[in-house]
Amino acid sequence: MLRYAVNQDKTNDFTTGRFLSMNSADLDFDQEHIWHPYTSMISPLPCIGVVSANGIKLTLHDGRELIDGMSSWWSTIHGYNNQRLNNAAKDQIDKMSHVMFGGITHPSAVALSRRLIDMTAPALDRVFISDSGSVAVEVAMKMALQYWVAKGQMQKTKMLTVEHGYHGDTFAAMSVCDPINGMHELFTGVLNKQLFAKAPQIGFNQTWSNDDIEPLEQLFIAHHQDAAAMIIEPIVQGAGGMRIYHPNYLTAVRQLCDKYDVLLICDEIATGFGRTGKLFAYEHSDIVPDILCLGKALTGGYMSLAATLTTKDIAQEICRTKAGVFMHGPTFMGNPLACAVANESLAILQEGHWQLQVANIERQLKQEFGAFNALNCVQDVRVLGAIGVIELKQAVDMASIQQAFVAQGVWVRPFGKLVYIMPPYIITNDELTELTNAIYQVVSAL
Ligand SMILES: Cc1ncc(COP(=O)(O)O)c(C=O)c1O
Repeated sequence: MLRYAVNQDKTNDFTTGRFLSMNSADLDFDQEHIWHPYTSMISPLPCIGVVSANGIKLTLHDGRELIDGMSSWWSTIHGYNNQRLNNAAKDQIDKMSHVMFGGITHPSAVALSRRLIDMTAPALDRVFISDSGSVAVEVAMKMALQYWVAKGQMQKTKMLTVEHGYHGDTFAAMSVCDPINGMHELFTGVLNKQLFAKAPQIGFNQTWSNDDIEPLEQLFIAHHQDAAAMIIEPIVQGAGGMRIYHPNYLTAVRQLCDKYDVLLICDEIATGFGRTGKLFAYEHSDIVPDILCLGKALTGGYMSLAATLTTKDIAQEICRTKAGVFMHGPTFMGNPLACAVANESLAILQEGHWQLQVANIERQLKQEFGAFNALNCVQDVRVLGAIGVIELKQAVDMASIQQAFVAQGVWVRPFGKLVYIMPPYIITNDELTELTNAIYQVVSAL
């Protein structure tokens, strides 16, 4: 006898494991027992039940449909229930869902890595496939550290970065997240102390001034001897504030890294695969990172997979330590199922329709978000590629605003003062207008 009664709803078939619906008992169970991202176990907010998804729409347990403005946190760029991605998964699952990657390789990992090397800058031709964005960042930071060990520069252990960054929730990643909004205070004494400069202040389309890079340059001057790498989200700082900065800033970062012999890690986990209007955001600045982190949209949002790319020289140097190898190897590294779906997702991108789709979204967001500037509660409106951000003057009440969005038929999940969207690239003009109108209804009522 199971301790917790199984949902009695006849549309759920517990014996086959197929759960086709949810009732209020399921939602209550969820609220009491299951952790969601950043939730309380004392006073958790209720979740909405989603039982299926198709195209850009989520279907709720009660039959309502929501337009998804979030692409499930930047990932489902080709939409849900995409036939090509479904088929890629089905084909692969019939052959081999998983096999260990130690001493074994398989066609999906090879095909995916070929595409990643083709799509990124030519110098980035060594690929480490891992499980999630945070792990890709851990891997990138470890690569940088091991590189300097190999070079006999054992003192180069620090990371340089900027405020308002977000790089994930594991410990090395947390150490380079924003020191105020991140988890530094909570884990004081546990997190490695890294070196932060003021975040870039000049926006993407504003007039550039070299003053913007000055604080970071001072940090390089003071600490480059101890710095293994500079880690930054190119052009768009995501979860740390949805800040869109000037391409010259990133160009200057590259120059500082070259001048002071510090590796450059670009974290494109959110921005990669077309989201900012370029395939990779570092292209806005015409630079090439030494190490590149990718994730989220890599599988078109189908499952968790990430990759860290670097150059041949860095990869080989890393392996000149006493260990003779790069010291990392997760159990599910190069998982065939995830690689097969990622390979198909990249094939869709390589056909090139994303460029028009993202350009159209950008044009329309610029037009339709213009109206928000006139609202008293709005501090700033920013658009780049398929990203639209409305920064409010005050933080939102999450519980009530979430309900208001659902009542309007859209899925938008703000944080703090930020109401933002990054819809699937396949959204139509009419659907996008529906989404922006719904946001206007909610925000104008604040
Ligand atoms: C820029 C950036 N880096 C790293 C991560 C962590 O990725 P994951 O949540 O897959 O661990 C995120 C997730 O939001 C991110 O936006």
